[in-house]
Amino acid sequence: MRSIAIINQKGGVGKTTTAVNLSAALARAGQRVGVIDIDPQAHASLHLGIDPQSKAPTVYDLLTEETPISEVWQRAGGSQPRLLPTADSRQPTAEENLVVAASHIDLAAAEVELAGVVGREVILRDKLAEAADQFDYVLIDCPPSLGILTINALAAVDDVFLPLQPHFLALHGLSKLLKTIGLVNERLNDRLQLAGVVLCLYESGTKLAVEVSSDVEQFFREARKGGRAWSAVRLFETRIRRNIRLAEAPSFGQSIFQYAANSPGAEDYRALGGEVLAYYAGRAMLESTAAPAA
Ligand SMILES: Nc1ncnc2c1ncn2[C@@H]1O[C@H](COP(=O)(O)OP(=O)(O)O)[C@@H](O)[C@H]1O
Ligand SMILES: [Mg+2]
Repeated sequence: MRSIAIINQKGGVGKTTTAVNLSAALARAGQRVGVIDIDPQAHASLHLGIDPQSKAPTVYDLLTEETPISEVWQRAGGSQPRLLPTADSRQPTAEENLVVAASHIDLAAAEVELAGVVGREVILRDKLAEAADQFDYVLIDCPPSLGILTINALAAVDDVFLPLQPHFLALHGLSKLLKTIGLVNERLNDRLQLAGVVLCLYESGTKLAVEVSSDVEQFFREARKGGRAWSAVRLFETRIRRNIRLAEAPSFGQSIFQYAANSPGAEDYRALGGEVLAYYAGRAMLESTAAPAA
């Protein structure tokens, strides 16, 4: 199982859009995918068509109760659209191969509720370990903060994907983020690494986008020298262009592939899915040659 946390402490950079649509792209490529929505805002859960009124246990129960992870998965894309369908939207159909551990607004209180709990940083890690055989990929959509929920995600996964919006403050705050990844790597999870950067909300054809992209490359070329938790980071070649269909899909509880399969947004996330699969196939080859002969 490959496990990926989608993090950036800034809001509005494309974390949830990427968690949902990259997961859907991987699932459509035949992978068994789980999405864990650890953001109390529950945007990924809604985007994937999870009914907020559902009584099913959520990530809140996972973190604060004895609930095993096997009890929280719900199938994606089961609900009715919450707005009138437009011409090119279809009734939601369940996304094959894609299940969701939904969020709940009560998660906002988890920080306080978990304050006195020993080992609170590694609850998700221990629960997720039980599901390792059931998935090819698990993606965690994180809140826009570096609190206990994000730390639980970082302790549980091997890889971090960082969505960045190419505007002139894109790199602002990144050193804090890298420091957090470094600390979690040192103290809680020595497998953790920043694996990839995804440029989202990309305004193709603008000078700013091109300039910021090259700044991002430069930043990570320098940063690679500074710490092992991000020494292998790559900037994914696929740029996720700004596309209105990506902003519309969440209110229908549909991935971009269900909502507008022929849109530029679907094209970009399909391409990113292909790039991510190729990346992990390459890593699997390296890992198998690096492993000592049995
Ligand atoms: N490539 C895109 N094109 C158009 N709108 C986008 C795109 N990516 C994200 N959005 C919209 O921008 C807003 C913020 O994106 P979101 O993925 O929710 O960011 P985050 O999870 O980092 O806060 C949402 O309304 C989303 O629908
Ligand atoms: Mg979000």
